[in-house]
Order: sequence, then C-alpha cells, then structure tokens
Amino acid sequence: MDWGLANRMARILKPDTGRTVMLAVDHGYFLGPTSGLEEPGGTIAPLLPYADSLMLTRGVLRRTVPPEADVPIVLRVSGGTSILRELSAEGPTVDVEDAIRLNVSAIAMSIFVGAEGERTTLLNLAKAVDLGERHGIPVLAVTAVGKDMVRDARYLSLACRIAAEIGAHMVKTYHCDGFEEVVRSTPVPVVIAGGKKLPERDAIRLAWSAIRDGARGVDMGRNIFQSDCPVGMIRAVRAVVHEGADVEQAHQVYLREKGR
Ligand code: 5RP
Repeated sequence: MDWGLANRMARILKPDTGRTVMLAVDHGYFLGPTSGLEEPGGTIAPLLPYADSLMLTRGVLRRTVPPEADVPIVLRVSGGTSILRELSAEGPTVDVEDAIRLNVSAIAMSIFVGAEGERTTLLNLAKAVDLGERHGIPVLAVTAVGKDMVRDARYLSLACRIAAEIGAHMVKTYHCDGFEEVVRSTPVPVVIAGGKKLPERDAIRLAWSAIRDGARGVDMGRNIFQSDCPVGMIRAVRAVVHEGADVEQAHQVYLREKGR
C-alpha cells in the first residue's frame, strides 16, 4: 500500500486499537432532512470531539464543519437518487479532484448487489478504486441493501466480498446472524452501519456484537444522532469499540452522560 493511502487509512482506523468510530451524517443525500439532521451543523458540533471520522457529503462538509476541525473526513461520493425512486440507480457525485481539494481521508460509494443498479454501481466502485489508488485515497464500499433484500450472512458475504474483490479498501455493511462469516470472507476491514433507531441499550449491544464478531468498528448515524443523548451514545459506542467495554459498562457511560 502506498504511503499516502496507508497514512489516510491510519487516520480512520486508529493505530492504537486498529478500530474506528465513524459518525455517519450523510443520510440527507437521498433522504433529505432526516430527523436529527434538519440542521446538521448543530447536530455534528457536540459530537465532533468523539468521532474518529465523519462520513458526510461535500455540501454539508463545506457548510457545517469548520476547516480547522481536526477530524478525518470520509466523503460520500455516490448519489443522484432519492427515496422517492429506484435507489440503486446511484452514480458518482464528486470529482476526485474536489475530494482532494477537500483534503478527505477516504471516499465512500454505495453498491447495490442484487438490485437493478448492480452492474453500474459495481463498475462505478471500480472507477473510484482506480482513482483512489492513483491519488492515495482509500475507498469505503457501502453495501446498500434494497427494500427487497434479506440482510443475512449469505447475501452480505456476497456483497462485501465483491466489494473487496473490486478493490475497496474498507467495507461497510450490516450486522447479522453469522456475521463472523461475513468478516472472515471479506479480506479488508469491515465496519457496520447502525440502521434504524433502536433503544439505546440495543444499539450498544449491536456495536458490541459486531466487534465481538470481528468488525473493525462502526459507521453509525441514527442510533447516535437520534438518541435522546447523542454525546452519551457516541461515548458509549467508543467505550465498546476502543476500550473493550461490555454492553452494561457502555450503557452506564450513556446513562452517566445523560444524567449530567
Ligand atoms: C446510507 C449510509 C449511512 O451512512 C448509513 O446507513 C449509516 O447510518 P445509520 O447508522 O443511520 O444506518 O451509508 O447509505
């Protein structure tokens, strides 16, 4: 791996633990003003000190993250669809030159395995990997799951493995029963999305289960920023990912912060 790419990877997967807590706030790119992100700047600011990196679009980055903020950026570079239409028709939305100008640490692109847009999104990922390799920028493949897809280990292993075979440097997917098999058959670091809002303890358990099963971290959004105590939740998730906390210990972290 070339030095620049390895350096950027090390900004995301923290060298002390080899793991990461990415804060995902890119939802607006197809969902519009998602609950909790109506004014992204206000949501992001108190969470920044606890995020190992921030996953977002360039529009929100430019408007809400101060350039002096010392947080690695994972820039979403795919989109072009909305919740109202076929989601798998995504294409590239950012030129790699702009990603470089924005000094990003990685770019993120969704793939839709098994959906109408499968071929196009996989070939777009291949192009992003070529550009990433040329410029030393790692690519995070997001295994987006269409409405009709079952999120089981067989399907997620297929999607993650294809992403890695195309050359993605990291893969983001969902936790599932048999997740250790998904991790085992994906030869690059795997992080999990949080998915829809869960009760806080369940979301902490989700992060804990993923780490137990071999995930290198989380790329979590709604279960943090839609919590009644977002700072408490991100601190709890950090405790699981970086400090080996169990579910109860991490839940106490959340409750202590909420009680302040
Ligand atoms: C959407 C994304 C989101 O970043 C991802 O779903 C993570 O957020 P959440 O934890 O809310 O699921 O990539 O395609």
